[in-house]
Amino acid sequence: MMGTKTAAVTGATGFLGTHLCDRLLADGWTVRGLSRATSDRERREDVEWYVGDLFDEGTLRSLVDGADVVFHLAGVGLWSAGPETVERVNRDGTRAVVEACGACDTGRLVFTSTAGTRRPKTEGEVADETDVAEPIGAYQSAKAAAEDLVDEYAATGDAVTVHPTSIFGPGDDAFTAQLIAMGYESTMPARLPGGLSIVGVDDVNDGLLAAAANGVSGEHYILGGENLSYDRAVSRIAEYTGGSPARVRVPATAIHAAGPVAEAARAVGDRHVFPFDREMARLATRRLFYTSRKAHEDLGYTYRPIEAHLPATMEWYRSELQ
Ligand SMILES: NC(=O)c1ccc[n+]([C@@H]2O[C@H](COP(=O)([O-])OP(=O)(O)OC[C@H]3O[C@@H](n4cnc5c(N)ncnc54)[C@H](OP(=O)(O)O)[C@@H]3O)[C@@H](O)[C@H]2O)c1
Repeated sequence: MMGTKTAAVTGATGFLGTHLCDRLLADGWTVRGLSRATSDRERREDVEWYVGDLFDEGTLRSLVDGADVVFHLAGVGLWSAGPETVERVNRDGTRAVVEACGACDTGRLVFTSTAGTRRPKTEGEVADETDVAEPIGAYQSAKAAAEDLVDEYAATGDAVTVHPTSIFGPGDDAFTAQLIAMGYESTMPARLPGGLSIVGVDDVNDGLLAAAANGVSGEHYILGGENLSYDRAVSRIAEYTGGSPARVRVPATAIHAAGPVAEAARAVGDRHVFPFDREMARLATRRLFYTSRKAHEDLGYTYRPIEAHLPATMEWYRSELQ
């Protein structure tokens, strides 16, 4: 019944978490959010905040105790931290959440991993949940290890794992802002080879709620969107926004060559240069396409085209980033 369910959200201050909290509140949930002391909570007064990080056992237990659903979203990418932090937060932080759920009176755990732990077997194919990939880099290996912990927990507890692809929407000053800049701002010089699955943040939230309601414990669900080459995605944004897409295409060989440069830069300091190493450089130039058929058939998950997400995203981009 509306208003009676309680959600506990880790990563509630992040890009996806902010949208999820808004959605849960709008749907009548009581929402508890985990927030580190340093994070901005002012704009979300309706969320009951639990202040601490994933490694504060007491805070985490009070967050999850009595919750109907725990949405574990907190994570760190290689854009914002070095490999050690990335492993600690994504793997050990998930262990802490699993242990807290096991020790408390908690309903279902919904873990947000990444589609990056799956990969198409060959160029031109789409990957599904069974295409488990050899992890490349600290982020993917920590997420893969976290998935194992959640699967183990599901043997006795109740947990499902979702795998979003590249999430697009307002409030994301990383991937979303870069993709828009490539289509909208003529000053951005680069076009990239390769391709990806782009999913709107609202669609991911539909998928999270569907996984909470109808997912089967122990199962994994890819939450993807349209499979597009970077060129096509950038042109579609340019067509919609009246921008002029970047005209200089960066050859794959240049991106491959940037790998060793990034490796050398990191040897000097804890710098974040993309692509981070040779293997990731090769990955960045591939077409990493995914199917969400399982989520569609089992959860009723659907996604919309990129244009459906552009009005709200462009409004945010123009007001915050221009
Ligand atoms: N964005 C994508 O395209 C994408 C795609 C696939 C999967 N995912 C996954 O989806 C989840 C959410 O991603 P996002 O894009 O929303 O990331 P985000 O904006 O960077 O948010 C990350 C969240 O994790 C929290 N966090 C980080 N370290 C923490 C710690 N030690 N203790 C407690 N909280 C901590 C952050 O809190 P602070 O505010 O305190 O920093 C923030 O709320 C992540 O698990 C990510 O791996 C994202």
